[in-house]
Amino acid sequence: MRFWGPPCITRLVFRIGRKLKPAQIHSTLPDWQQANPRFIERATEAAMARTAGGWVVIGASRDITSRPKKVAVDGRDWVAWRGEDGSAYVAPNDCPHMGAELCEGRVNGAAIVCPWHGLALGPEPRGAWKPARTFDDGVLVWARLRTEGPLAEEPTDRPILAPRPSRFVAAVIAMEARCEPEDVVANRLDPWHGVHYHPHSFAKLSALEVSEEAITLRVAYRVTGPLCVEVDCTFRAPTRRSIVMTIVGGDGTGSVVETHATPIADGRTLVTEATLATSDRPGFFVARRAGRLLRPFIERRASRLWVEDVAYAERRYELRKTDRVRLDVTK
Ligand code: FES
Ligand SMILES: [Fe+2]
Repeated sequence: MRFWGPPCITRLVFRIGRKLKPAQIHSTLPDWQQANPRFIERATEAAMARTAGGWVVIGASRDITSRPKKVAVDGRDWVAWRGEDGSAYVAPNDCPHMGAELCEGRVNGAAIVCPWHGLALGPEPRGAWKPARTFDDGVLVWARLRTEGPLAEEPTDRPILAPRPSRFVAAVIAMEARCEPEDVVANRLDPWHGVHYHPHSFAKLSALEVSEEAITLRVAYRVTGPLCVEVDCTFRAPTRRSIVMTIVGGDGTGSVVETHATPIADGRTLVTEATLATSDRPGFFVARRAGRLLRPFIERRASRLWVEDVAYAERRYELRKTDRVRLDVTK
């Protein structure tokens, strides 16, 4: 019976797409030995030392509309809206008059109108009520919020972003996790779990180069069933709240998957993942026009992975917070 069961099916691999040049494998040790917890901790610490310039992801650009939206960041409620001028705004959710929730209001011009007494607010400050600086990169809306207190960091003019392709099909998913941003980043600095923890998505994974700055992998990604596309990709964390996968060889070279971790409150993090898929294949332009069809497919795949990776990040957080001893068997 086992011969015909799912474990057998997951071992079948038929590679499609471009053939990659032969490459030196970093190590032939089993994955559980390559996934060295001390290396992962050091790489995570190095990522945590990088500034995010005070910027956090608020949501997908397409989700910030003229319908005001409440977002929680760092223990405080904010309201995000898109003005009739097309700009995205983010400001404290409490009305400075008597505290009504502005997310219940409506947009008029660039301003948000309070639902209780009709005060029009923004984009100019009103007393202590001050809109945050925002940046809409066309895929994600960012706000610069965390520039005070113990988590203060030197503000930058714009969010720190890894290079993106010039043309792409974009898909964005968001998911909440009971952990801190560092647990989300640490999950991606352990690529060795891929084949074992996500066998539905990865058929084969080999590390080619490993450093605290970047991890380069050769991955056989399942398109459907045993059909796989093999690509080379790098993982690096440009800031303490983001980690980016870039395809550097094979089909889709230049495509990126950005994972951003926005702190909601103590022990709660919003994971926002933007996939910017590109290709130099002639059919790409057709695919671009078919973006509306491709997007749900990409988002379904990303969500499936993140349901599992959120569980991983939450487990890491739980272990950290309860000081549970992990036996390091790789020594
Ligand atoms: S509470 Fe907003 S205008 Fe009065
Ligand atoms: Fe994962």
